[in-house]
Amino acid sequence: MTQDSARIAPEPLPPGTMVDGYRIVSKIGAGGFGVVYRAISPTGQEVAVKEYLPGALARREGVNGAVTVAPEKNALYRMGMRCFLEEGRALAQISHPSVVNVLNFLHANDTVYLVMNYLEGASLQEFIMTAVGLKNPKVFRESTIRSLFDEVLGGLRVVHQHTMLHLDIKPANIFITEEDRAVLIDFGAARNVLHNDGKYLQPMFTPGFSGPEMRQKGSAIGPWTDIYAIGACIFSCMKGHPPPDTAVQDGAVRLRQYLQELRAVYSDSLVDLVADCMAITPTRRPHSVYALQKMLAPHEFVMEDSPPPPPPPQVANPWSERIKAFSKRLA
Ligand SMILES: Nc1ncnc2c1ncn2[C@@H]1O[C@H](COP(=O)(O)OP(=O)(O)OP(=O)(O)O)[C@@H](O)[C@H]1O
Ligand SMILES: [Mg+2]
Repeated sequence: MTQDSARIAPEPLPPGTMVDGYRIVSKIGAGGFGVVYRAISPTGQEVAVKEYLPGALARREGVNGAVTVAPEKNALYRMGMRCFLEEGRALAQISHPSVVNVLNFLHANDTVYLVMNYLEGASLQEFIMTAVGLKNPKVFRESTIRSLFDEVLGGLRVVHQHTMLHLDIKPANIFITEEDRAVLIDFGAARNVLHNDGKYLQPMFTPGFSGPEMRQKGSAIGPWTDIYAIGACIFSCMKGHPPPDTAVQDGAVRLRQYLQELRAVYSDSLVDLVADCMAITPTRRPHSVYALQKMLAPHEFVMEDSPPPPPPPQVANPWSERIKAFSKRLA
C-alpha cells in the first residue's frame, strides 16, 4: 500500500441507497477500513451499518454502489473481508450493554456490511475535548473516571471471555450514549488471536494507546495489550491528551514525568493503576480485566476531589451526571 493510495478516502454510498433492504440515511464516520452509515432497517429500526471498504485496496466507481478492487490487491482485500466478517460473527455472540450490539451481516456490492444498534451520543474523545475546554483543575473527577472505566471493563471482560481482543481501545472508540452508558465500539482491528495458531494479520496500532508489543516482532499480543490501552485511556481522562508513545525513545521517561505531575491532582492509587497498566513489560500489568476492576473499585480510594463537593448523586451512575453537565455547558 502506498501512502498516497492509503490517503484517498473511499466514496460513501449516497443517501437513499438500498443495501439488502436497509436504506442508507447518511454517513456518520469513515476510517481506513470502511464507512459507517446511519440507516433504516426493513422493519423501520434505526441502525448503524459499517461497510468494509479499505481505501488503500478498493474504490467505489460509478453510480451502482459496486466496489472495485485492482487484481493485484484482490487477495489482501478478500483476506481483510474474511477478518471483518469473522470479527463481526464473534461480536454477534456477545450481548453486553457495554459492547456494541451486532444485529446482522449483509453481502452486497462485492463487499460486506455489519448492522449494529444505532447509538445516540458522542465518543469519550469528544467528552474529553469538552472537559479540557472547561479548564478545570481536573479534566474528569476521579470518581467519574473510576465508574466510567468500571463500566468499560465490564464489557471488555466479556470480550476477553469470548477469546476476542479489541486491540484498538482509545477514547474515540468508547461511545457514551444519551442514556449515559459507556459502549465499546469499532472492533475493526480485533483479531480472534487467543485461539489462533499465530497466522494473523498484524493489527493496526494507534500510538500512545498501543502497548510496545504491538510493534515488536515476536512479542505476544493478548488481553494485556487491551489493558495497556485502558491505562492510556484513563491517562487521557486525567491529562486531557493521549499519553506519550512508550515504544519510542524517551516515551517511557516522559510518561513517568506526567504521572508524577498527576500525583498532585489524583490519588496515588489511580496514578499507580495507570502506571501498572502501561508497564512496558506485559507481565507487570494487572493480570486480567477482573483484577483491574478490583483495583479500580471506588472503595479502594479516599474521596479527595476538590471542594466544593457536588451534592451526592441520586443515580446509580454518578459519572453520568458529570457527562450530562458537560453537555449542558456545551449547548
Ligand atoms: N453503532 C453505532 N451507532 C452510532 N454511531 C456509531 C456506531 N458505530 C460507529 N459510530 C460512529 O461512527 C464513527 C466511526 O466508527 P468506528 O469507530 O466503528 O469506525 P472507524 O474508526 O471509522 O473505523 P476503522 O478504525 O475500522 O477504520 C464513530 O466514531 C461513531 O461516531
Ligand atoms: Mg473508530
